[in-house]
Amino acid sequence: VWPLFDRLRREDPVHWNPEPAPNAGFWAITRHEDIVAVDRDAETFTSTNFVNLEEVDDDLIEVRRSILESDGTRHRALRKLMQRDFGGQTLLKYEDFLRGLTQTTVDAALAKGEFDFVKEVSADFPIRVLARMLDVPDEDTGRLIDWGNRMIGNTDPDYADVLLEHADSEQYKHLPFRSPAALEVFAYGRELARQRRGGDGEDLVSKLVNRVPVDGEPLTATEFDNYFLLLVVAGNETTRHTITHSMLALLRNPDQLALLQQRPELIPTAVEEMLRWASPVYHFRRTATRDVELRGRRIRAGDKVVMWFASGNRDEEVFADPYRFDVTRTPNDHVSFGKGSPHFCLGNNLARLEIRLMFETLLPRIGRAELVGDVRRVRSNFVNGIKTLPVRVTER
Ligand code: HEM
Repeated sequence: VWPLFDRLRREDPVHWNPEPAPNAGFWAITRHEDIVAVDRDAETFTSTNFVNLEEVDDDLIEVRRSILESDGTRHRALRKLMQRDFGGQTLLKYEDFLRGLTQTTVDAALAKGEFDFVKEVSADFPIRVLARMLDVPDEDTGRLIDWGNRMIGNTDPDYADVLLEHADSEQYKHLPFRSPAALEVFAYGRELARQRRGGDGEDLVSKLVNRVPVDGEPLTATEFDNYFLLLVVAGNETTRHTITHSMLALLRNPDQLALLQQRPELIPTAVEEMLRWASPVYHFRRTATRDVELRGRRIRAGDKVVMWFASGNRDEEVFADPYRFDVTRTPNDHVSFGKGSPHFCLGNNLARLEIRLMFETLLPRIGRAELVGDVRRVRSNFVNGIKTLPVRVTER
């Protein structure tokens, strides 16, 4: 996909892609500067008609709408509801828990010597953190992981119950990701909400059900369902794949691994490069609300406009030598969490903290590390994911 993005940025940065139904056509935006221009202008480029390539029928938009597909005052109210809980200061209270978790995860993996890095290190870690923030028992973590895989992996035969392109997916089109797994997530979230309504719990579910949004309108049942579901999936795959891609990049660039081992104070800088390198979210989509011109191309009201974040992260106008994995890269103006947008990733502080702590724990323990099998990728145009990363690691 990278050579294609390179070509689009060079030859046709605002490119009309005439895809047939059900996705219809869309504008592919591939330059960093244009991605930022689209992402920050929510009036011209709305999220309310949905944010993936998939077309959602008008009559189903309301039942499927989450914070991601809201704009304006309701979006601000929904965002404010949880913003403090994902702020850098608030997250400090989880730091000891997170360090403990990275340690047990790394201990167990290294004891095996040869293992699948995804299975042993990166797959469960983000969801375990979320399970703690939701205050749900450890036993439920496996179910949360499975639901996440089935929903986000709706184009991957290894994960999906019903593949998005399959005719059967029509009957699930009222559900997020058109996935029957969403029904299980809804039922689970509703049960937690029932138990915690009116209580004074500090967990995210208690806050969602007991706080009143700043516009004074309590969360509707649908808003709760979709918010809960998004919290369960948004930070799960994305953070997992960032950690996996970063490990792969370090295996392929042993000089960078050695540098981070010698100078661990560089890890926070490296985390930004890991996010740029991994680009775990390929794209988000907007819809033009009016006719507008971009680089001389006429975008019409109603057209789909797709921001290819992954391409923006390899834009040579912004990143010198963009295909070099450079853990000292500064500045590093990546768009992995979006840029200048009202929808800028709510979980960015949490993701950064998780990635940093994982590598702070892992790197000092690594002696020799090598790839010992095939890297398998997730089949998706939405998440840039890795399913298996077989490694052999000897301890220092
Ligand atoms: C939104 C990426 C981790 C929760 C987003 C957006 C992106 C993104 C690209 C949309 C930004 C835009 O439209 O401009 C990522 C990446 C992650 C990550 C790359 C990890 C490496 C997390 C985590 C959580 C989270 C850990 C929380 C548990 C959300 C939510 C939104 C969002 C709730 C919607 C915000 C809104 O609409 O206002 N994320 N994310 N994300 N993310 Fe993340």
